[in-house]
Amino acid sequence: MTAPAIPQLQLSPTPPRSSDILVVGLVEAPDGPQLVGADKNLVAATAKRFGRPLLDLATELGARTGVGQVTLVPAAQSAARLAVVGLGPVERVTPEVLRRAAGSALRTVAGLGLEGGAAVTVDLGTAEAETAQAAAEGALLGSYRHQPISSEDPDPAAVRSVTVVADLGRRAGELAEVVGVVCQAVLRARHWVNLPPNLLYPETFAEEARALARGTRLAVEVLDEAALTKGGYGGLLAVGGGSARGPRLVRLSYRPRGATTHLVLVGKGITFDSGGLNLKPGDSMYTMKCDMAGAAAVLAATRAVADLGLKVSITCYAAMAENLPSSSAYRPSDVLTIYGGTTVENANTDAEGRLVMADALARSQEDEPDLVLDVATLTGACMVALGDRIAGVMSNDDEAVARVLDAAEVTGEEFWELPLTDQFREGLDSSVADVKSSGGRLGGAMSAAAFLERFVAEGTPWAHLDIAGPAFNSGKPWGHVPEGGTGAAVRTLVQLARSLA
Ligand code: BES
Ligand code: MN
Ligand code: ZN
Repeated sequence: MTAPAIPQLQLSPTPPRSSDILVVGLVEAPDGPQLVGADKNLVAATAKRFGRPLLDLATELGARTGVGQVTLVPAAQSAARLAVVGLGPVERVTPEVLRRAAGSALRTVAGLGLEGGAAVTVDLGTAEAETAQAAAEGALLGSYRHQPISSEDPDPAAVRSVTVVADLGRRAGELAEVVGVVCQAVLRARHWVNLPPNLLYPETFAEEARALARGTRLAVEVLDEAALTKGGYGGLLAVGGGSARGPRLVRLSYRPRGATTHLVLVGKGITFDSGGLNLKPGDSMYTMKCDMAGAAAVLAATRAVADLGLKVSITCYAAMAENLPSSSAYRPSDVLTIYGGTTVENANTDAEGRLVMADALARSQEDEPDLVLDVATLTGACMVALGDRIAGVMSNDDEAVARVLDAAEVTGEEFWELPLTDQFREGLDSSVADVKSSGGRLGGAMSAAAFLERFVAEGTPWAHLDIAGPAFNSGKPWGHVPEGGTGAAVRTLVQLARSLA
């Protein structure tokens, strides 16, 4: 079940002599639309061949300045075709605009299915490292297409290579490497999320994690059902108990020489969430193969950090289980014992994520982290609050929140802080156990966070990222974001690790 390969990436001060497609920009300037990135020679050659200025030709063919609007235009000289992509108003061309525009352009190009894969040049007038990096990321992320599971031969790569035109001198090579590693990690997370739950279940997902670590500086440990029973992981065992395919806890560790900070990452890996005995209605169950996106994100990000050789220690936990109803399923009102001994009154079997996360969080405290981040498609309530493009952040520490928001700002991923106040902590009081797993309908995202907080050691900075919205795109593709698995949080996690290294 191999992840798709990313196109070859280069950052070069001049465009290559020829390419299949040249991506240029179209901005809205005070006196009308203006091309960005089309060099003099190209403009002249195109004018000669088509008898009018390139801008006129593009406009006649319907080119628009709206961010991410793509128009294919015949060209001359260095490229067979141009993809003219809108960049919006000229004064508002931010790195994220470039990322989305490059993503839309490459999505269009990938959809052309050029024989042998397209060689694409992206010239969006990016003169600085920050903007060039954004365009490169957008291009690589936009080139991804999900490989259907089929009796037919797999589709060949739709995009063979990407050259981003930017004069970055000696930094070009390093930047291309970083972008390549990070985008590969995003594609890997998307791929795992898109795999159907009959193929990706705890055992096979754990095998994927083993394969991920092979040949790298990551050490991997997989706890199977027997080991989980022995260790007292009552959350994973309860949630996974309804499925014939038992739970797993995966632990990756990365210990580079010279690291002074230890980051723990914990991801929710519910390979399918039917809701259990509190069964979900069919429509909301359909996309629940995405419920392992948190685990996918932390695993992929950890591998990227190791590939980049960052000087920050990471211990990564992926808590994997399948939530199904059966005669061996756990029940509403069951009392479970989480790793370490805390007892939990189970309010609802569809609140399964927090139980497997509790085991992993409790265990992770033995690693004595400086910072704990957990990533989970935890609550529908977070989507009701923030929509499906913004993730929620809840934390016991303002500095941890600032770190997450700062990293997110760099990557263009959207996170928004939600308040973790005492009301939500008190709402979890139970008369039959130490704590109840849910505090009712109101404030569901914060109530879930308040539950998780109990399994983090007092005084240890921790932030919870609820990615229920952005992890999976059930709508149309947009910018660099495809339909289905998105790889949400991967780039922010890697960026945050870079800020600690
Ligand atoms: N996996 C879901 C949350 C979810 C919903 C993720 C939609 C992505 C899209 C989670 O396990 C869940 O079912 N949460 C319940 C909690 C409730 C029973 C306390 C919810 O949000 O309704
Ligand atoms: Mn659920
Ligand atoms: Zn779930």
